[in-house]
Amino acid sequence: TQLALSVDEIKKGSHRTFMEKEIFEQPGAAQSALFSRVDSNQRRIRLGGIAEHMDELLQCRRVFLVGCGTSYHAGMMAETVIERLCGYSVTSVLASHFIDCLPHVGPGDMCVFISQSGSTADTIAALEYANKCDALTVGIVNTVGSSIYRQTDCGVHINAGYEASVCSTKAYTCQCVSLLMIALCIHFEQRLRQNQPVSDLYDEIFDGIITLPDALSEALDESKHIHEIAKKISAASSCLVLGRGFSYSVAREGALKIKEVSYIHAEGIAAGELKHGTLALVCDDIPLVFVAPCDRYMPKMQNAVAQCTARRTDKAKDGVVIITDDTAWVSAGFKSVIKTPRVHEMVQPLVSCVPLQLLALYLCEERGFDVDKPRNLAKSVTVE
Ligand code: G6P
Repeated sequence: TQLALSVDEIKKGSHRTFMEKEIFEQPGAAQSALFSRVDSNQRRIRLGGIAEHMDELLQCRRVFLVGCGTSYHAGMMAETVIERLCGYSVTSVLASHFIDCLPHVGPGDMCVFISQSGSTADTIAALEYANKCDALTVGIVNTVGSSIYRQTDCGVHINAGYEASVCSTKAYTCQCVSLLMIALCIHFEQRLRQNQPVSDLYDEIFDGIITLPDALSEALDESKHIHEIAKKISAASSCLVLGRGFSYSVAREGALKIKEVSYIHAEGIAAGELKHGTLALVCDDIPLVFVAPCDRYMPKMQNAVAQCTARRTDKAKDGVVIITDDTAWVSAGFKSVIKTPRVHEMVQPLVSCVPLQLLALYLCEERGFDVDKPRNLAKSVTVE
């Protein structure tokens, strides 16, 4: 035990915990996911793991993105990008729900199984069902040689490096990057075969992901400020994370991080649904975290923030946290504004996720728990 402990200490390097280390490793991890796949001259992505199956991929009409926990949220994040870039009908679905409902899938359907470990029982069961139905199966895994890697027709390794923390952070980022790379790769091939140039959206997302490592570094620079905010809200027993459009998936992922490690009840809410229930909960005791980047949904998010602050006596004070690339929130009098760099609106969720991971980490530390050993949770869930 003595030796194992010291090996762990060595592996953590200058960081106190694995979760902290892995959050801060994200710029490098994203770089590894992109490494040797980005052809900057031709502005295209080359993915050896799917190249041989390109004909089948192009013939698909529907895509199911299947995973559990954080891996499911990576699928949610990529859903719209894949749909807009490739023209498929795309649905993200929890692996457990997939095997409960057994959707009609078959030839012409692409089922993408997203799993850091590659050994999650529900995801494997969903994969086995899709294989039996003759759907094209694609694996997005971190663990080379894992069950999901072996049982899928083709796939992409996310190259995040070993992830020790139960709470997944860098793997999520690399899963999202890998899914966006698949979308770019398929779009490029579709256009090539039609003798057409790539779309403007392709160029924007291509630029977004190649600059992502720098944007992640910049987002990490806010860590001290985020720690101060965590101190102010750490006594809460419940918290809401709100986002809409492209930021909804990241609100869900941020809430999952917070509940996993800090044991504060947290819910990721679609801001457009506020009036259909959640507004009843809004009061001074519940911190609200808004993911409000300067995207096409900004006016609606401003409205959501106004609806909530009107129901709090502390108005725009400590209990309202805004994660944004728009400094207008500071001018509007909000105290707890976490600044992120601005990238393309469809890549922004990857950057917005970093402050939420840090917030979860610091909330946990402030509350005195061991962030690397969340109670009742396992890194890999190998039984249903
Ligand atoms: C567990 C882990 C999560 C992970 C999920 C799916 O719940 O604690 O961090 O997101 O399993 O795991 P996978 O290995 O399939 O990505």
